[in-house]
Amino acid sequence: MRVLVTGGAGFIGSAVCRRLVGANGFSVVNVDKLTYAANPRSLDPIAHDPRYAFERADICDRAALDSIFAKHRPTAVLHLAAESHVDRSITGSAPFVDTNVVGTYQLLEAARRYHAALDRRARFRFVHVSTDEVFGSADGEGRFHEDTPYRPSSPYSASKAAADHLAHAWYTTYGLPVVISNCSNNYGPCQFPEKLIPLTILNALDGRPLPVYGDGLNVRDWLYVDDHAEGLATLLAHGRPGERYNFGGDAEKANLAVVELICDAVMPSTLQKREASSAGVRARALPAGSSAPSAGISTTEPGGNRCAGASTAASASGSSRPQAPPPQPSPHAGEG
Ligand SMILES: NC(=O)c1ccc[n+]([C@@H]2O[C@H](COP(=O)([O-])OP(=O)(O)OC[C@H]3O[C@@H](n4cnc5c(N)ncnc54)[C@H](O)[C@@H]3O)[C@@H](O)[C@H]2O)c1
Repeated sequence: MRVLVTGGAGFIGSAVCRRLVGANGFSVVNVDKLTYAANPRSLDPIAHDPRYAFERADICDRAALDSIFAKHRPTAVLHLAAESHVDRSITGSAPFVDTNVVGTYQLLEAARRYHAALDRRARFRFVHVSTDEVFGSADGEGRFHEDTPYRPSSPYSASKAAADHLAHAWYTTYGLPVVISNCSNNYGPCQFPEKLIPLTILNALDGRPLPVYGDGLNVRDWLYVDDHAEGLATLLAHGRPGERYNFGGDAEKANLAVVELICDAVMPSTLQKREASSAGVRARALPAGSSAPSAGISTTEPGGNRCAGASTAASASGSSRPQAPPPQPSPHAGEG
């Protein structure tokens, strides 16, 4: 199988590329714009494999997509490229509409033209990777199912919901063999540390305030990223066109419980944990402008990407890391 993966330098995309080239032995062309969220070093294990190729391109650039399809002749598309951080979508929604909606549209159109000209059309698959955030909040409603109505609540989840509807429409209207997956929060290596788990680990190690929004009782389900990658590889081979598949980890936890688990693993003594916990309670009660206590459970600031000694795409290419700090953790409390 020759798979065109979009967003393969991101957190989940890099796990997918490593798996498809490694365990599955597939050929992969990774199409990625290399935004701040990309980390090319996470692809080091396969960077020199003859089955792996990289094309730096924006999925909004239709001409670039057409020439990549023509050059690499994929037998499947696995579409992960997205702006993925809920909090960023609240302070600046334009890139979310551009990449997640317009970019998905351009990719669907490029795939449709390519698919229509194929001899062996039946074997082609377009797997569109989405999020369970399109269903809104699960609080008090049990689990999401494939037929749970869409109720997105942030610019991020609304842009992903729009992309899902476009992808399904390209199946029903044009017969493009689209398979849609909706996944819960992922965790694992090489995630950009603006997201809850890596941010909490780095801040706990550095004795800095820990990021929890409000009372921390928002519940999310957590899935290990390599399990998600395995699920997506299964969809490439066995996913039925027109179907939707939900992926979850069967591991629902309140955000505060996740932070406390990390404290247990990272902080050396119970005393230190107690100090952090009481400092955190104080931090939530502090008025704006007060200085936050060290290692308290609180809102926080971003750390650097320390995955495997990696640098971000921006720093790897010689430019500096974006200076504007991302917004504080939001009530949406989702991850992407
Ligand atoms: N992280 C999660 O917990 C989670 C959960 C469910 C679903 N998802 C979905 O999975 C996918 C991957 O998520 P992630 O956490 O790995 O994201 P990420 O932010 O870590 O990576 C996104 C990648 O897409 C690339 N990209 C962004 N805009 C692009 C563009 N216009 N053209 C080409 N490449 C572009 C970036 O450079 C980056 O490498 C997304 O579609 C996201 O909505 C994520």
